[in-house]
Amino acid sequence: MNLLLSPTPIRYSLLAGLVVGTRLLAAEPDFQKEVLPLLQQRCIECHGAEKQKGKLRLDSKEATLKGGKDGPALKAKDSAGSELIKRVSLPAGNDDRMPPEGDGLTADQIAVLKAWIDAGAAWPDGVVIESKNKPKAAAAPVRQGPPQPPLPELPKEFKPAAGEAAALATLAKAGLEVRPIAQNSPWREANFRLAGTNVTDASIAPLKEVTSLVELNLGATRVTDAGLASIANLGYLQNLQAPLTGLTDAGLARLKGLSNLVSINLYGTQVTDAGLETLKGLKHLGSVYVWQTKVTPEGAAKLKAALPWLYVNTGAELAALATNTPPAEKKEEKK
Ligand code: HEC
Repeated sequence: MNLLLSPTPIRYSLLAGLVVGTRLLAAEPDFQKEVLPLLQQRCIECHGAEKQKGKLRLDSKEATLKGGKDGPALKAKDSAGSELIKRVSLPAGNDDRMPPEGDGLTADQIAVLKAWIDAGAAWPDGVVIESKNKPKAAAAPVRQGPPQPPLPELPKEFKPAAGEAAALATLAKAGLEVRPIAQNSPWREANFRLAGTNVTDASIAPLKEVTSLVELNLGATRVTDAGLASIANLGYLQNLQAPLTGLTDAGLARLKGLSNLVSINLYGTQVTDAGLETLKGLKHLGSVYVWQTKVTPEGAAKLKAALPWLYVNTGAELAALATNTPPAEKKEEKK
């Protein structure tokens, strides 16, 4: 077989290549793989779309053949007569050497360019070399993704409702603390989740007067749809947590007036797509948590259509993480 005869000549020519320090030019260099990257790395920054030093562009076949102020940069099949090869072959320190800055091209790289030109300087039609400094994405708009939700503003001057002090006292007597969100702030927050099942519609009734409330946690309490009437006019409320309660769509319908609401957690309640839709007028709403409810991805998408910045957590992320529990099973899960 031929194989038995070939080792010696191959080894010989490899050695010759190494000794002379030039590339073994058995085949015509591949423009895309060898020539283009070389021009792109070393020439295009000064001879491309951004700069045209010496009035020369080397980023397209037409421009390269047209050349610069001294004429064509290359002559196909005549590397020795090509300006481009003359320039890259000049010794370091010569003012005309290309590239003028940094290391010159290596002997291998010059050999690639020579062989490419001598083989006819093939340049596939329409190929334009882009500057390595300018990624394609640069033309894209700077900001991507959904717009930011408009942030609600709390008024600088705020006077609590006439009955607020008395209401706070009643709540405190029942063990339900409503605290200022910060020292000397008129705005208040309440976490009734700590009192859990002791908290009923009746016990939260005094909240009606606490118009300073901006955060409320009713998680795992016995509050029902009817009880939400007590918070229906708390226009400054920004964050409402009501997971693991008996809430349904009827309760959600009472929240339409909470025009400053930013976040609502309905995890583990009985709300459905229809209930979710009643929230679409809340222009500050940025996140809705509806994991383990009857809300479907379609329902979530519908609300997002009205509030494009909205983050709706349907638990899909969690379901995907829990590899033992296929998402289909999650959907069937009932309270
Ligand atoms: C840092 C900028 C820079 C880089 C990089 C650069 N050049 Fe140049 N080039 C110039 C300047 C400046 C001139 C004009 C000055 C002159 O004529 O000597 C020029 C002129 C030339 C010319 C002569 C054009 C004419 O018609 O007068 C050729 C050919 C050329 N460059 C080839 C190359 C090649 C090939 C590379 C990459 C291996 C390269 N250049 C990289 C700056 C650059």
